Amino acid sequence: MDRSNGSGRLPGRVALITGGAQGIGRAIAALFQREGACVFILDCDSKAGSHTAAELTARNSSLPVRFIAADLGKPAEIQNAVRAMQQFHDHVDILVNNAGIELDKTLNTLTFADWDLVMNVNLRGAFLLAKELLPFFPPSGASIVNISSVHASHAFPDSIPYACSKAAMVALTRNLALDLASRHIRVNCICPGYIDTRLWEHYLQSSANPAQVAQQTAALHPVGRRGVPNDVAEAAVFLASDSSAFITGTDLVVDGGLTVRAHP
Ligand SMILES: NC(=O)c1ccc[n+]([C@@H]2O[C@H](COP(=O)([O-])OP(=O)(O)OC[C@H]3O[C@@H](n4cnc5c(N)ncnc54)[C@H](O)[C@@H]3O)[C@@H](O)[C@H]2O)c1
Repeated sequence: MDRSNGSGRLPGRVALITGGAQGIGRAIAALFQREGACVFILDCDSKAGSHTAAELTARNSSLPVRFIAADLGKPAEIQNAVRAMQQFHDHVDILVNNAGIELDKTLNTLTFADWDLVMNVNLRGAFLLAKELLPFFPPSGASIVNISSVHASHAFPDSIPYACSKAAMVALTRNLALDLASRHIRVNCICPGYIDTRLWEHYLQSSANPAQVAQQTAALHPVGRRGVPNDVAEAAVFLASDSSAFITGTDLVVDGGLTVRAHP
């Protein structure tokens, strides 16, 4: 995938980032733009998505960031989003399946609809988007980066459908990697630990003692802090770029050592 027009680690690459309006997705969009990519943000939050796209475009108008509104839980909206992208480019080099939602519920309170919602957004949306984009990945190669979680491998309280969707994301990654290798499409995923974003803030504020939980979760990480969105964005640039040309089907844990510890 050597298309070396432009500068940075992603020169001239066309990238679609889901959930790019805020949090980890926004940090990925910002870093990809800085590394020379032409970025599209797909998000269901039109206000935040338009705002982020305008802000990033103002930073570097020669690489405008474009916003596409779509709900990944709705297959027709995914198809429309791909059509909207085609108005600007006839190909996509990088897909980052980052959008995700979590519901903090126990088995007792979880409903059928809750299960479907989380699975459809976190997992089915990623699968459908990769499938819809398949004709637009160039023959020279492409990269798909999926955002999973440490929940894929370790159990945390009140996280059943979320954890299942994230474990399945790792399996999706491995199987797509095998399926798409002959087309020079690499597929990898990232498993972040606790990262300070809106999703994390929501979890924190729903706890009985947010200040204590904030301190405890920082201490859980051997490096002594929670992650910031840019920690994940740097890993995404690596997996999306030619620096990782021989890496496919892997899951890269970005968790400050959270999951290597035997006892907290
Ligand atoms: N924050 C963490 O601690 C953490 C840890 C591990 C993994 N992750 C994963 O990283 C990803 C990003 O998380 P975040 O913390 O930045 O979350 P966030 O809530 O800050 O941002 C998520 C973005 O996804 C968008 N989104 C949600 N549902 C959507 C839908 N149906 N269609 C389109 N867009 C949708 C939201 O509007 C938002 O812009 C998620 O997949 C999450 O599971 C986060």
